[in-house]
Amino acid sequence: MSPLIDRHGRTKRKLRISLTDRCNFRCTYCMPEHPDWLPRASLLGRGEIVRLAGLFVDHGIDQIRLTGGEPLLRRDLSECVREISALRARGLARLSMTTNASRIAPKARELVEAGIDDFNVSLDAIDPDTFRRLTRREIAPVLDGIDALVDAGAKVKLNAVVIRGDNEKDVVPLLEWAMARGLPLRFIEYMPLDAPGHWKRDAVVSEAEMLAAIGERHHVESVPRSHDPATPYVVDGRYPLGIISTVSNPFCSTCDRLRITATGELFTCLFSPIGTPLGARLREGLDDEALAAQVARAVWLKDAGYASRPGPVDRPLTMHAMGG
Ligand code: 5AD
Ligand code: SF4
Repeated sequence: MSPLIDRHGRTKRKLRISLTDRCNFRCTYCMPEHPDWLPRASLLGRGEIVRLAGLFVDHGIDQIRLTGGEPLLRRDLSECVREISALRARGLARLSMTTNASRIAPKARELVEAGIDDFNVSLDAIDPDTFRRLTRREIAPVLDGIDALVDAGAKVKLNAVVIRGDNEKDVVPLLEWAMARGLPLRFIEYMPLDAPGHWKRDAVVSEAEMLAAIGERHHVESVPRSHDPATPYVVDGRYPLGIISTVSNPFCSTCDRLRITATGELFTCLFSPIGTPLGARLREGLDDEALAAQVARAVWLKDAGYASRPGPVDRPLTMHAMGG
């Protein structure tokens, strides 16, 4: 079936599916302290999620990432993973998950066996106080979760959002911690996706600033970019580091991603002000062909990206409902 392509010539290969907007953490950069959750009845059921996922796989999506909120808050998570993993028969090549890892320890093995190929764990600081200030939660269960994933033989990558005055001092300690454990790490510039009015341009620690801080202690080499939003580096000649610089150097021109929220709204860009309500259409009884036509149209109209209109987006959904 025809691949999904936008009017800027970018073919879509990756889909992020938010399984729930609920989260047991309250990261300041992601959501307000007292978020409004999406109405429970509007969240997609497993059958609906798998049906939408299959539709995208049939149209050329070969990498799916399960996100939240926190995916572990979904009771039927392992079943979701198993059923989405079965889409490999239709062309899915890789199934990943983004998690805060705080509840993953008892489930790590089960999720690997169910079909998760790799995990991105959010770890913004290694200092417990800094971690607590950023996430409003404790670090210990997260470190246990990371250990459990590694023990289960899972591929694990760490993600850290860097915010001035919050965890910029933790950039080097976190990097050294990750290097000592051989876990790849990506630093992410703070993006305007959180509670309205919270993000400030001044709070963004740019890629250049991060590199300068790391460069004081380590040798950092730039390496050729692959098809990943992170700019790749090699630290001390051996360790792979990535920096996602959406704010200082947006990399939208080759964007191959799409995302659907837990209610089945399709967002063609993290910064789109409006989505396409596929979940609602599906519940009205639209068949796969009609749904696919709506997807193709929405994808075709995809904006150029953050580069074309930087700054905060005016929309009611904050990051926790967009799926990271
Ligand atoms: N800026 C950058 N990244 C963010 N994330 C959430 N909110 C933001 C933001 N404002 C990303 C983090 C987190 C994942 C779930 O979403 O990388 O690990
Ligand atoms: Fe939860 Fe992840 Fe958002 Fe933190 S960043 S509040 S862990 S969804």
